[in-house]
Amino acid sequence: MDMPDFSITPITEKDRSWVARFAAEHWGADLMVAHGTSLYISQQEGFFAEVTGQVVGLVTYRISGAECEITSLDSLQEGMGIGSALIGAVKETAQRAGCKRVFLITTNDNTHALRFYQRRGFRLVALYRNAVDESRKIKPEIPFTGNDGIPIRDEIELEYDLFMEL
Ligand SMILES: CC(C)(COP(=O)(O)OP(=O)(O)OC[C@H]1O[C@@H](n2cnc3c(N)ncnc32)[C@H](O)[C@@H]1OP(=O)(O)O)[C@@H](O)C(=O)NCCC(=O)NCCS
Repeated sequence: MDMPDFSITPITEKDRSWVARFAAEHWGADLMVAHGTSLYISQQEGFFAEVTGQVVGLVTYRISGAECEITSLDSLQEGMGIGSALIGAVKETAQRAGCKRVFLITTNDNTHALRFYQRRGFRLVALYRNAVDESRKIKPEIPFTGNDGIPIRDEIELEYDLFMEL
């Protein structure tokens, strides 16, 4: 049986309560902490992916000046292009808003995300050693052990240079 295509839709005010529940389910809480700043995923701009009325992916972002930060990304049906399409929607929005770069923070254990983003033109630009210790003081839900049993300690910043596309 063929998988049905997915649609990509911008988040609006009416989506905020399910986004908060989605964030709690996938990230331990609606509160996201990285590089010493806190934010609520449900209060961000974003896009969601749907297949036959079911949410199968979510990306959130925020734009400040010439920078666009991806604040969360989740695909619930991996390997069918949902993550790439969500990232593409953010890149397009950031470009239209006049941003120079799209960046994000992930943690040292997330080797799958490091691969995923680099395959999509993102570059590693900074390593913040032990930064997760600080984030964990604000958000104790951050586990000590992550993917493949790797201790979660460091934050890694990746960026996509939007000028590359011009
Ligand atoms: C990282 C993540 C968002 C990727 O989402 P995804 O939906 O699997 O991404 P895609 O389907 O676009 O791409 C994944 C692979 O599937 C392949 N793919 C895409 N469409 C496909 C299709 N129709 N058929 C087969 N394969 C396909 C892609 O080529 C890609 O492989 P590649 O990286 O070797 O090129 C997802 O794994 C996830 O949610 N992880 C957990 C949360 C997380 O780590 N988030 C990021 C932290 S900041």
